[in-house]
Amino acid sequence: MSQENLMSRLSNINVYPVKSIAGISLSTAQVEKQGLQCDRRFMVASLDGKMITARTHPQMVKIKAIIEPDGLVLCYPGLIDLHFTFDELEMKEIDTTVWSDTFTAYSTTEEANQWFSSILGTEAQLLFSGEQSNRIRERIQTNVSFADGYPLLIISEASLTELNKRSSSNHTMAQFRTNLVISGNEAFIEDSWKRIRIGEVEFEVVKPCQRCILTTVNPNTAQYHPNKEPLKTFSTFRADDSGNVYFGQNLIAKNEGMIKIGDKIEVLETKEKEYYKDLGSIATTQQVTVDPIKAKKDVKSEEITISLNGNLFTGNTEDPLLQQVEAAGLSINYSCRSGLCGACRVTLESGDVEQEDSPALNQRLKDAGMILACCSVPKTDIEVVD
Ligand code: FES
Repeated sequence: MSQENLMSRLSNINVYPVKSIAGISLSTAQVEKQGLQCDRRFMVASLDGKMITARTHPQMVKIKAIIEPDGLVLCYPGLIDLHFTFDELEMKEIDTTVWSDTFTAYSTTEEANQWFSSILGTEAQLLFSGEQSNRIRERIQTNVSFADGYPLLIISEASLTELNKRSSSNHTMAQFRTNLVISGNEAFIEDSWKRIRIGEVEFEVVKPCQRCILTTVNPNTAQYHPNKEPLKTFSTFRADDSGNVYFGQNLIAKNEGMIKIGDKIEVLETKEKEYYKDLGSIATTQQVTVDPIKAKKDVKSEEITISLNGNLFTGNTEDPLLQQVEAAGLSINYSCRSGLCGACRVTLESGDVEQEDSPALNQRLKDAGMILACCSVPKTDIEVVD
């Protein structure tokens, strides 16, 4: 095969005008330092400014956007479309938080706030990042939109094919919410790149993308996968020693310019791929049965008292501890939200919880009194510390 045929090309470009909603496929895009133009420039937040995403409100993936020259149209099944122009945004300064980054964003319209609140079933507001996001990420020396941590994400079609070969379910690229998709035959070739050029733009490939429960949400039905796929399969060949799983590579644009579908991927510098132990078919037989969403439906809820680091609040015996902590306006560290990574481990000082068997909680940790907040449900009053 000629070198020309072996070369990867850009096969799809996606933007997500509002964080966590469905993507829009484009044929060309302007790359800005903060990410693709129109990508994650809006975000839904609680009234105290904390991000709300489809990790906890999966119905958001059913919201579709249409980009107009002067604004946005947003559509959700059963609701009248929301339409606003950029001119009518209120633009009042609002403090907001994306993970550990706190920065200033801007208010949009009361109609938009109401529209999102009715979908989410909780009071929410739609925020705008501004033309230039105020969120400066010092570690990567650039400003970033409302994206999780990095301005852009790239995944090869061959990597998805390799996942599907290993998984008992068929997965689509839409589950991985990537900006750039590339053609080519070599799975995970993107892991070996350090610097690339696409069209007018040079990119630095900075970090593998850690994946979470959002990848298990079906983009069409907004349902979590009943067996937490693809996280279960990732845990067998794309996991680090802590159980975090990775798929795709985060990019930083070194300059601004246009890219278009069909552009060649010019590899300017390579690096050693990250090493992941391949557990093959042995591990794929391990069952990840954690499904707090399902489990809670079978339980009659009772009111209890939960103490997190001495902060008391009223909880229930129905919802996962992590969900209840967040509803109370507190926080516990988390990543996968599905019992795989261990990021949400806390110590149970007193009381009892229903803790499903999870890969991230071995017997030694259980004996030490640890539980996973993402997939344990309180049975009694409890005291936990993180
Ligand atoms: S967040 Fe990963 S195990 Fe709970």
